[in-house]
Amino acid sequence: MEILRVQGGARLQGIVDVPGAKNSVLKLMAAALLAEGATTITNVPEIDDVEIMAELLRRLGAHVVHDLVARSVVVDVPAQLEHRADYDLVRKMRASICVLGPLLARCGAADVALPGGDDIGSRGLDMHIDGLRKLGAEVTNEHGYLIAASAGGLSGTEIWLEFPSVGATETIVMAAVTATGETIIDNAAREPEIIDICTMLVSMGARIDGIGSSTLTIHGVESMHPTTHATVGDRIVAGTWAVAAAMTQGSVEVRGVDPSHVSVALDKLRTAGAHVLTTADGFTVTMSERPLAVDVVTLPFPGFPTDLQPQFIAMNAISVGAALVTENLFEARFRFVQELARLGADVRTDGHHALVRGRPALSGAPVEATDIRAGAGLVLAGLVAEGTTDVYGVGHIDRGYAGFVEVLNGLGADVVRMDM
Ligand code: EPU
Repeated sequence: MEILRVQGGARLQGIVDVPGAKNSVLKLMAAALLAEGATTITNVPEIDDVEIMAELLRRLGAHVVHDLVARSVVVDVPAQLEHRADYDLVRKMRASICVLGPLLARCGAADVALPGGDDIGSRGLDMHIDGLRKLGAEVTNEHGYLIAASAGGLSGTEIWLEFPSVGATETIVMAAVTATGETIIDNAAREPEIIDICTMLVSMGARIDGIGSSTLTIHGVESMHPTTHATVGDRIVAGTWAVAAAMTQGSVEVRGVDPSHVSVALDKLRTAGAHVLTTADGFTVTMSERPLAVDVVTLPFPGFPTDLQPQFIAMNAISVGAALVTENLFEARFRFVQELARLGADVRTDGHHALVRGRPALSGAPVEATDIRAGAGLVLAGLVAEGTTDVYGVGHIDRGYAGFVEVLNGLGADVVRMDM
């Protein structure tokens, strides 16, 4: 079993380049299924989830080459695809569900194992299913699989999402691009990753209006063609390094991300006392004193991202004052608070609220990461804790952060990956 051994005390300083976004690249790889031939995706992060998605696409019949040096993935899609995504892969990565839309569009059928619960809550699929049904698919749940079929093809329709779900928006858009007629998605998600996939789909021949707004209009086209597309920079990785700079009273320049994709988080850091400078391709965060505690409410984009909530709780734990953090997306995201308490943090949760009272110092201890972002939050806390913090559950971090240890050590931290 691997752990990360973190020695507290370093002030992070330097420059870091963020790779493409995990939460985009996985969907872009799935979207490649929509066109026969070789689609190339660049700016691909070197993370475990990309390997899982590559394996899933291979099982569906695609030829996938992941070039680590070029940081690209080529997905070569045959005329005939398999349409079954098995449980052994889907259980490893919930994002596997994103093959549902493309398979249905390409094969008229998709059998995708239900991902089940995960470490951050129940995470339903009802909006994915309702959307596909509105497009004319029959969707049933049999023996742990979602079985979707559309013998007569899919037809454009109007879909209103109860909540701007990222996953449901992606599933419906990918299913609708080759449906007959016009599909309107109201209350669609507006995350930069949604803009990224829509942009790629357009470059594959799709016709989508309203990209970046909460109403997407998709005019069905006959067929799609392969493309080359660069993955959008990872705003959550960028935000994580920004918080790390602020917490350690350091100064870090982050490159490779559109600063408008992290503007709410950067504003919060300014409120916490950081000096933040933005450029066209990134930002610099400099902090010279203990941060001030900042309230946070997670919301769909352009609101504050849930994927930066644990990192901000970690920062608040060593801040001056107290902060109220409200989690509106994933009920179980506060689970990691119990681990943070092992470092001496003063956090009380009540439902979807957490009250964090800042302390002058934390003290190193063994802790367990329960999901990717909790893992990042715990390592950040370890960076400012006195002594040594051993973070277990490193596999979670490796799923979403490329070269996590190398980046931190490059900025002056002392983090070692060890076998226990
Ligand atoms: N929801 C439903 N029914 C649905 C779809 C969603 O009830 O049909 C609920 C979920 O249970 C959740 C909320 O709606 O409470 C948000 O779900 P959403 O569909 O927006 O999120 P997602 O597509 O499952 C993606 C990211 C998450 C990120 C969220 C929100 C991927 C692979 N995952 O999840 O990323 O937190 O959007 O921005 O893109 C992470 O990277 O650590 C992570 C969890």
